Amino acid sequence: MAFPTETVYGLGACALDPDAVARVFAAKGRPADNPLIVHVADVAGLERLVARVPPLALDLAARFWPGPLTLVCEAAPSLPRQTTGGLATVAVRVPAHPVALALLRAADVPVAAPSANRSGRPSPTTAAHVVADLGAAVDVVVDGGACRVGVESTVVDVRGERPVVLRDGAVTREQLGVPGPEAGADLAASPGTRYRHYAPACRVEIAPPGRAAALAAQRLAAGARVACLAGVAAPQGVVDLGRFADVEDLAARLYDALRAAEESGAEVVVVEAVPEQGLGRAVMDRLRRAAAGQAPPPRAAAS
Ligand code: TXA
Ligand code: MG
Repeated sequence: MAFPTETVYGLGACALDPDAVARVFAAKGRPADNPLIVHVADVAGLERLVARVPPLALDLAARFWPGPLTLVCEAAPSLPRQTTGGLATVAVRVPAHPVALALLRAADVPVAAPSANRSGRPSPTTAAHVVADLGAAVDVVVDGGACRVGVESTVVDVRGERPVVLRDGAVTREQLGVPGPEAGADLAASPGTRYRHYAPACRVEIAPPGRAAALAAQRLAAGARVACLAGVAAPQGVVDLGRFADVEDLAARLYDALRAAEESGAEVVVVEAVPEQGLGRAVMDRLRRAAAGQAPPPRAAAS
C-alpha cells in the first residue's frame, strides 16, 4: 500500500514480515542492500525496533517528531535483516501527516516504507506519481493530495554523542546544530546515497542563481526542446515549469516539475540553483544526483 507523508509518498509493508518487505524491494526494483526507513506512530514504536534507545534519539525525537527526521539506531536482533538491507542498524521516523499517522495507528505494526517510486526515479509527491511509476505493482494508493515538504527526511545516525547526517533532508543542519559536510564527507554511510537517483528521462542541467533563463535560451537556440524551473519566468519557446518563490517552494515543486518536464517531451530541463544552506542543501543534493552521470550538453548547431 502506498500512502502520503509530509515529505513524499511511501510504499509501505509490515517491517516485521520479510515476505512483505521483499515485495516492496521487487515493486521498486530496489537493490536488496539499500535499507528501508521504518515508520512508527510514536517513540514507543521506536523502542520496540531498537536494541537500545540512545539518549540523543530521545532528545531529537522530542524536538522533531512527528516530522521529517529519520533516526538510525542499533536494530533489535528480532528485526528482519531484509528490512535493514542486512545492516545491524535500523532507520526510524514518525511522519507528520494525519493520514500516515492514522494508518500507523490502525495497522499497529511498524511500517517499512521507501519512497513509492521506481528505483532511480524522482520521488513521488502525488498519488498520480505513484500510479505512474508503480501501476499494477501496488494494490492500494491512499491519495492525500500533494506532499507539503516535497523532499525526503533527513537521515541521522544517533548512536554517538552528536548527530551525524547521512542524508540531508527536510530538517536542516542548522536546526540540528551540525556543520555542513566537507564535500559529502560523512554521506557514504547511508547506502541509498551511493546510487544515482531522482532522475527523470530528460537531461537535468543546474543553472547558477540568476542564470537559468539565459541557459535555457542557449539550449533552445542550440535546437533542444527545453523546460525550465526557476525563480523567474521561462523564456519564450521554453516549457515553463513554474516560478518558485523561495527554497521551500522549490522543494515542494521539484519532483513534480522533473516529471512534468519529461512528460512535456523536453530533452533538457534547466533548474536554477539555490544557496547550499538550510533546506537548500537537500534540494541541491537531489538536483546533483538527478543530473549525475548524464551525457554532456548538446553542442550549439553549426551555422
Ligand atoms: O521522507 C522520507 O524519508 C521518505 C518517506 C516515505 O518517509 N522515505 C524515503 O525512503 O525517502 P527511501 O527508502 O527512499 O530512502 C531511505 C534512505 C536511503 O538513503 C537509505 O539508504 C537510508 O535512508 N537508510 C535506511 N536505513 C538506513 C540505515 N540503517 N543506515 C543508514 N542509512 C539508512
Ligand atoms: Mg527514495
